[in-house]
Amino acid sequence: MKVNGFLKDVLGASRVTKTRRDLIASGSEKNIYFDPIREVAKELHPEKTEVKVVKVEDVSPTARKFTFEAKEGYKLPPFQAGQYVSLDLQIGETLTTRPYSISSAPFEARTGEHPFFEITVRNGRPGIGFASSWIYANVKEGDEFTAHLPFGQFYYEPLRDAKNVVALAGGSGITPFYSMAKEIEHGTLDMNLTILYGSVSTKDIILEKQIKAIKCDKVRFINVISGDEEYEGEKGFLTAEIIKKYSAEDTTYFVCGPLPMYNFVAGELKKLNVPARRIRMEVFGAPMNVREAEGYPENAEPATWNLTVLRGIDKTVIKASSLESLAVAMERAGIPNNTRCRSGACGYCRCELLSGDVFVPSVGDGRRWADKKFGFYHACSTYPLSDLEIRIIIK
Ligand code: FES
Repeated sequence: MKVNGFLKDVLGASRVTKTRRDLIASGSEKNIYFDPIREVAKELHPEKTEVKVVKVEDVSPTARKFTFEAKEGYKLPPFQAGQYVSLDLQIGETLTTRPYSISSAPFEARTGEHPFFEITVRNGRPGIGFASSWIYANVKEGDEFTAHLPFGQFYYEPLRDAKNVVALAGGSGITPFYSMAKEIEHGTLDMNLTILYGSVSTKDIILEKQIKAIKCDKVRFINVISGDEEYEGEKGFLTAEIIKKYSAEDTTYFVCGPLPMYNFVAGELKKLNVPARRIRMEVFGAPMNVREAEGYPENAEPATWNLTVLRGIDKTVIKASSLESLAVAMERAGIPNNTRCRSGACGYCRCELLSGDVFVPSVGDGRRWADKKFGFYHACSTYPLSDLEIRIIIK
């Protein structure tokens, strides 16, 4: 079957790019196992699209909103309010992927003359990753990117969630809730949303003007400020007391923010005896220091290990720091191993551990039962404790 010819007929020439088979035939990609079924599936259901930046806007002293439209010949995929999009980034010599919650609403990507989606990126604080800082400082109107299709389970599902939702947000964790709030205002999402947004000071509040412009009695927005005694609204942290004050009898809690906030809020929700089925969480990124993660072996000193990576019939040995995930080690060495969530949740970076010892932080362990039983790991949330041999999936 002539895959490219068939797809050109169905989809139009501009949608069809080179397949791995083309690359093998041209000799530019060698020694790669070729799976025709996978190639057909990938071309019928492309995992990525091409986008360009059409607007850059400051939304706080330390955050910028980037608006993307599809490049000519491509379309923006549908998504749910709360999902994220991963962008391929070429930063210096490193080709990496970073996930960002979509801060615009789903209806904005499927309607209007110029459908678009937005991400909001923060800069300039400890704990903000190098990719976010790079985007904040470098990306400008006209820049083009490859975007993976939106992904993630962090969205409202009426069959599962209570009608009343309290959103507990910190830092750029406000972004999925802004998307939900706009979709509610538009009338295409039916839920009652109370956003409790924890910040150190009012200068740290992102998208405040935009959220306050939403006129909808189903959306409430409350800032909770921890570092300013003079602040006249809610002060302190997102404690059980404050959470309870804004909760209905049956409430689902959506938590989105950096790891320390997640750990704190999880404890407060426990004090309120909130059942696990009423809590949904989106944790951003890997731990800042894996050695401080619960359960990290006390006697494990920082070290550099040999990591043998099998990909098809390719075999490469690279160096891997015990302080960085296997995904980061492979990125540094230029080995393609696609990632999406980068927090251990989605399984897109799944690999098989053939030999050696590793550590997986409990917060970043989103593996299925069968994966744990048969020795599969998520490379973005797995850290080497010895020389390793792994097999990665060809993408
Ligand atoms: S990228 Fe999602 S689990 Fe690794």
